Amino acid sequence: MSGEATIKVWDIAVRVFHWSLVIAFFVAYFSGDDENVLHVYAGYAVLALVAFRIVWGFIGTRHARFADFIYGPATTWRYVKSMISSKPLHYLGHNPLGGWMVVALLLSLIGTCWTGLETYGQEGHGPLAQADIRLISPAMADDDEEDHRGGRGQGNGEADGDEFWKELHEAFSNFTLFLVILHVAGVLIASGIHKENLIKSMITGYKPPS
Ligand code: HEM
Ligand code: HEM
Repeated sequence: MSGEATIKVWDIAVRVFHWSLVIAFFVAYFSGDDENVLHVYAGYAVLALVAFRIVWGFIGTRHARFADFIYGPATTWRYVKSMISSKPLHYLGHNPLGGWMVVALLLSLIGTCWTGLETYGQEGHGPLAQADIRLISPAMADDDEEDHRGGRGQGNGEADGDEFWKELHEAFSNFTLFLVILHVAGVLIASGIHKENLIKSMITGYKPPS
């Protein structure tokens, strides 16, 4: 593309996936506090993107495949040690640590979306609402929320299934945010060590060789 010799690493699908995910994730994260349709749509977008990326991890182009960037513990450890040496090992696709971070991010996003769907289901909406209705009889569903476990006036915590999923959903979304912070720090550190601009590569798709 540009004048210098570069190698195409990230296909268009991976790049569109990544930056769409960044937008959808932050929209979902910052719209979660009130019940609004924007939050639910952003959450569904995250779920669809993650589902797509998993499929693409099996049938996509070379560096998009899980088989290209999931390394065993020995290789991952060798990479970690090389990072602090004068000759850091270089990978054209994700490096072994980056590869494991991709897996962690995808799993945490699945957990976030799943618990979001459960929360939404508890509120009587979305695909999991149906399952709820079958578990709780309509008569009970009306007025049991507050105190059917007789929690001696405490009124918080486990007696309320609605709160349970909401709390778990919040915990998952915060954990994902924590991973994202580590992810971006990792990207910046790896860019520094290898003297290359990984963020630019995720935009253009190209990397300098070796
Ligand atoms: C603005 C902040 C972000 C920046 C600058 C950024 C940057 C990058 C870069 C440079 C890569 C490629 C790493 C490599 O070369 O090995 C990457 C990959 C990735 N990032 Fe981010 N990222 C950001 C936010 C996020 C967020 C919010 C998520 C998810 C919630 C995310 C999930 C991923 C995933 C799943 C990959 C793997 C890409 C693939 O193989 O499909 N990133 N990111
Ligand atoms: C990566 C995707 C998502 C992120 C980052 C996210 C984040 C959040 C956050 C931070 C909250 C506020 C929690 C609280 O204040 O207790 C929240 C609430 C909620 N989320 Fe998500 N969420 C995501 C996906 C989803 C999905 C897929 C759904 C379901 C379709 C969903 C449904 C809900 C519901 C119903 C609430 C409670 C809103 C309320 O009643 O106040 N979320 N989410």
